[in-house]
Amino acid sequence: MPKEQWFYTGMDCYIHCIESLNGTYLNAFSKSYGEKALELCKDIFIGDNLSKQEAQDKLMMASWHGGMSIAYSQVGVAHALSYGLGYLLGVKHGIGNCIVFDHLEAYYPEGVRLFKQMKAKHDIELPLGICANLTDHEFDTMIDVALSLEPLWENAIGKNWKKTITRAAIRELYEKM
Ligand SMILES: [Fe+2]
Repeated sequence: MPKEQWFYTGMDCYIHCIESLNGTYLNAFSKSYGEKALELCKDIFIGDNLSKQEAQDKLMMASWHGGMSIAYSQVGVAHALSYGLGYLLGVKHGIGNCIVFDHLEAYYPEGVRLFKQMKAKHDIELPLGICANLTDHEFDTMIDVALSLEPLWENAIGKNWKKTITRAAIRELYEKM
């Protein structure tokens, strides 16, 4: 598998953990799975001295635990915005999450800090300017898709998410991508 695909797919798992563990829907079930998956992701992506086989085994189990972590919880801001990119531009899920997550310091400061460290360690360059030439109508389409995912926003921000998550706030984020 190309390194980039390995990274983007692994980061989907990592982002699931960050969104679950920092969400308002968090509960004992999700927390125990999310913490285990996060620990594995740290070992795989910024740990040292793992053999290729160990890294593959750990990634398989991180994926399992990361998936279980959102079974009774939800994902959050990165996924909501990534679905907008996927819908309009056909950006695939893993890379879309990475493109979005890179700009979410305000929502997940520690998670994004670590993500940038992982990205640097594996020498990953994300595409830039994918929203540079979009029309207002196209931005609106992506914003509509993102805002339609209400449980993701409620998990990320809380019941009053509509007070802070405005169309302008979402557009500002998309414009950075
Ligand atoms: Fe995902």
